[in-house]
Amino acid sequence: MSASATQYPNYSPGLEGIPAGISSISEIDSDRSSLQYRGYDVHDLAEFGSYEQTAYLLIHKKLPNADELKAFNERLGAERDVPEAVYTALKALPKATHPMDSIRTAYSVLAPFDPDYTAPSTDIAANIRKAERIIAKASTMVGNGHRIRQGLEPIKPDPSHGAAANLLHLITGTDPIPATVKTMDASMTLYAEHGFNASTFACRVTCSTLSDLYSGIVTGIGTLRGPLHGGANEEAMKMILEIGTPENAEAWIRDALATKKKIMGFGHREYKKGDSRAFYMGKVAKELGVEKGNTKYGEIAEILERIMRDEKGIFPNVDFPAAYAYYLLDIPIDLYTPIFVVARVAGYSAHAIEQLENNRLIRPKAIFNGDANLTYVPLSER
Ligand code: CMC
Repeated sequence: MSASATQYPNYSPGLEGIPAGISSISEIDSDRSSLQYRGYDVHDLAEFGSYEQTAYLLIHKKLPNADELKAFNERLGAERDVPEAVYTALKALPKATHPMDSIRTAYSVLAPFDPDYTAPSTDIAANIRKAERIIAKASTMVGNGHRIRQGLEPIKPDPSHGAAANLLHLITGTDPIPATVKTMDASMTLYAEHGFNASTFACRVTCSTLSDLYSGIVTGIGTLRGPLHGGANEEAMKMILEIGTPENAEAWIRDALATKKKIMGFGHREYKKGDSRAFYMGKVAKELGVEKGNTKYGEIAEILERIMRDEKGIFPNVDFPAAYAYYLLDIPIDLYTPIFVVARVAGYSAHAIEQLENNRLIRPKAIFNGDANLTYVPLSER
């Protein structure tokens, strides 16, 4: 038991295990290593559904029927494009700007252009319309943001594309093949929502002050950026590349563990028997390796997974297989966390709306352990 836990019996560092709200959006079952969005297993949504069906489910609280999905896709298609001001702002950023900073900035610029900008934050119908625009434009801003930093002009999104196809189209400048779109779509479905993770919780805290949905999204993106959270997928790929070959993997990981290194893409606060999303994404990533004639990363992954399980009882999280799947799809490494954003804005929006439907300011207390009652000494006497 940590010192703080002994000293302060009602305190849990990092709020571990502390319920911080009630939500009907997703359920993580740590014992069964399962994840459901509004009652549906994420594996079924990734295998048989689509990111758009998932986003609809999260925002509209039910799976769409065929007509509802068609209308939803049409609304998203019509909203994919973004105001020129977003591109102007992205063009003004230094070349070395990380794409997570670009997408966070893009949402800040976008907010006042939303036709519902002046609607009160508690107007749920306006929030749903905003959520659809936020979801529609994410892939355009990440894809065209990537073009801009390469000195290329943004291209018009094709309104018939879903989010995964739009993203791939803008990143590569070519029409993506259906198998690649399916892999990206499945990863985005798995990334779309995950309960009270740090960034979603941060988004809810922002909205609980009756601030607006866009501010919640910007807060969420800033929180997702760190390597203990969304940034882990980029760090995991850098680690796999540093390992280089399956032959190096065992010695590398044993040395890393001996020197108490954090292994990126492993471990999870909620899943102690394995991250349900990693099982599915691992299968997709390994199949992709076979299809591409490059099984090296899958082999490195298997060695790391075995040793982490046997030595530490720690399993990969979704960021680990997503990282080498994206690498096999030739996606630049610093776009991995922004892709997470493109998916997760659906979860952020659903949580922001849920928070605002039944709001109470989120304001926990601190256990004070600093000095008290000191005598003020005038500046000239210190
Ligand atoms: N590599 C090595 N040791 C680890 C790891 C890891 N990835 N994860 C946990 N441990 C050890 C940790 O050192 C600690 O050992 P000890 O008790 O001897 O000090 C023990 O396991 C418990 O770890 P913890 O850090 O207290 O667990 P937590 O619930 O606070 O942390 C975590 C969860 C995700 C922050 C942590 O597992 C981690 O830092 N993982 C690497 C970063 C990562 O992959 N993050 C992505 C999270 S999931 C998807 C997402 O949100 O993006």
